[in-house]
Amino acid sequence: MIIQHNISLKKYNTFGISAKAKFFCEVNSTKDLEEVLQLGEYPEKFIISGGSNMLITKDIEVLVVHINIKGKEIISETEEQVILKVMAGENWHNLVLWTLENDYGGLENMSLIPGNTGTAPIQNIGAYGVELKDTFVSCEAMEINTGQVRTFTKEDCQFGYRDSYFKNEGKGKYIITSVTFELSKKNHLLNTSYGAISQELEKQAIRNPTIKDVSNAVIAIRQSKLPDPSQLGNSGSFFKNPVVSKSEFDDFTKHHPKAPFYKVSEDTYKIPAGWLIEQCGFKGKRFGDAGIYKNQALVLVNYNNASGSEILALAHKIMEAVQDKFAIRITPEVNIIK
Ligand code: EPU
Repeated sequence: MIIQHNISLKKYNTFGISAKAKFFCEVNSTKDLEEVLQLGEYPEKFIISGGSNMLITKDIEVLVVHINIKGKEIISETEEQVILKVMAGENWHNLVLWTLENDYGGLENMSLIPGNTGTAPIQNIGAYGVELKDTFVSCEAMEINTGQVRTFTKEDCQFGYRDSYFKNEGKGKYIITSVTFELSKKNHLLNTSYGAISQELEKQAIRNPTIKDVSNAVIAIRQSKLPDPSQLGNSGSFFKNPVVSKSEFDDFTKHHPKAPFYKVSEDTYKIPAGWLIEQCGFKGKRFGDAGIYKNQALVLVNYNNASGSEILALAHKIMEAVQDKFAIRITPEVNIIK
């Protein structure tokens, strides 16, 4: 195992923050990972995979372990479905493209989400009406303290909106090493109900879409709204959409009848944070090298040399403005590394 010193983390986080790792190593197999976890001279570890959902605000003094475990395996299949196990270090979008080449359905709405497969369950990634949990069967995760690998079923993962066991009780305790999905091989259940997808398919005059058509529509929508991290550092939605109670919602819509919203349940409503932030006048603004993306106010961007603390300060400014104007608290979706 090679331990490198003073490595820049810029290319390992999609925000492109130039923090340093005092110690750094890359693991290419679960065996490597087990070995690294046993290294007594580095009792604490910081795990990084696709680096797509984190804002690093300082140099990392402990051993940074980059998870780069690759591989895909069909565990079983019938005429209708396939059970596919994917190792944690596989790039998410490449996995989606591979499933489409093989005509396996279920992941198409989640095309072009940055990051790796192993981190997808942590925040139950989702887009355009579909979440990871919809095709998730189980995942394997290594316990950091013991090196033991445990299988987590869907129930064990306690998935919620951008949430799971791994963001709560399990936080900092496990490293996900693989994820197993159940995908369809025929009679794919398409989810084109999300307004933007149906509009995009209509625009392309596609009446009977295939899973590839849905993926292409999602790619077109995302490319028009969301910045490509390889061109402009970002971590997707920086904030979660706030969920408010019916009485808060009634009060809110009385004052803002044109605001978009989604009904979550009889008593809860989700209000798009992007709309709230735009109303506060932040969309497209730039403060030094930190900014708010011009096409989607939910996305904070790094124009090149912003530090994590500068992005964080901007996030706080936005949260305060939304609180003052709407009396609604918005919270970050990304992990802030302090
Ligand atoms: N809106 C604005 N101004 C903005 C942005 C959005 O007014 O600057 C309005 C839109 O007009 C629309 C509503 O807000 O009426 C919702 O916008 P959009 O469809 O773009 O979705 P979102 O709620 O802002 C969520 C996810 C995205 C995901 C999209 C599509 C969260 C935190 N974000 O965004 O996820 O791609 O829905 O499903 O739930 C991510 O997590 O990184 C991410 C990009």
